[in-house]
Amino acid sequence: MTKIVILYDSNTGNTQKMAEFIADGARSISGVDVTLKKVGEPFSLSALLLDVDAVILGSPAHYAFATPAMRDFLSCIQGQVVDGNFEVKGKLGAVFGSYGWDGAKSVERFALEMQNIGFKMYSSVLAKATLLPIPQLKQKTLEECRAFGKNIAEQISKK
Ligand SMILES: Cc1cc2nc3c(=O)[nH]c(=O)nc-3n(C[C@H](O)[C@H](O)[C@H](O)COP(=O)(O)O)c2cc1C
Repeated sequence: MTKIVILYDSNTGNTQKMAEFIADGARSISGVDVTLKKVGEPFSLSALLLDVDAVILGSPAHYAFATPAMRDFLSCIQGQVVDGNFEVKGKLGAVFGSYGWDGAKSVERFALEMQNIGFKMYSSVLAKATLLPIPQLKQKTLEECRAFGKNIAEQISKK
């Protein structure tokens, strides 16, 4: 069984919707187990990371970066690596997020943070703008999210 963990932060539901479609796409590949969690819910981090093959993190852009909750969460993962509880080598990392206006860079910056911890990063990030003044993601965008999840699941299943 291939294990994917998707963790996201979301205040108004856009990034959550992206996460749900990514999870749906990943689950379409047989033999892939997907766990979807929101940062801030209580769960055991060590149990979550046990035998994981890919970690996918999603955040809205807040002041040109990932949210403080998501940044803290990445620090928690780093803590697990430093303590020797989580072997990051060979694990795939991927990042997605939504933004309102100029926040695409924030998603790329967060991917770099993840790479610095030691994840082998997926070839691209998925950064999607919400449409102001009514911030909603288009159906086409959600289908791209589904494809993103499916492609990641396919890649790690082939290992
Ligand atoms: C406090 C705050 C700061 C934000 N800062 C940015 C920003 O720097 N750049 C940007 O493009 N969008 C910014 N946004 C817009 C959000 O990234 C955007 O609405 C996003 O889709 C919200 O995701 P969510 O529905 O998952 O919470 C900000 C929103 C909030 C509430």
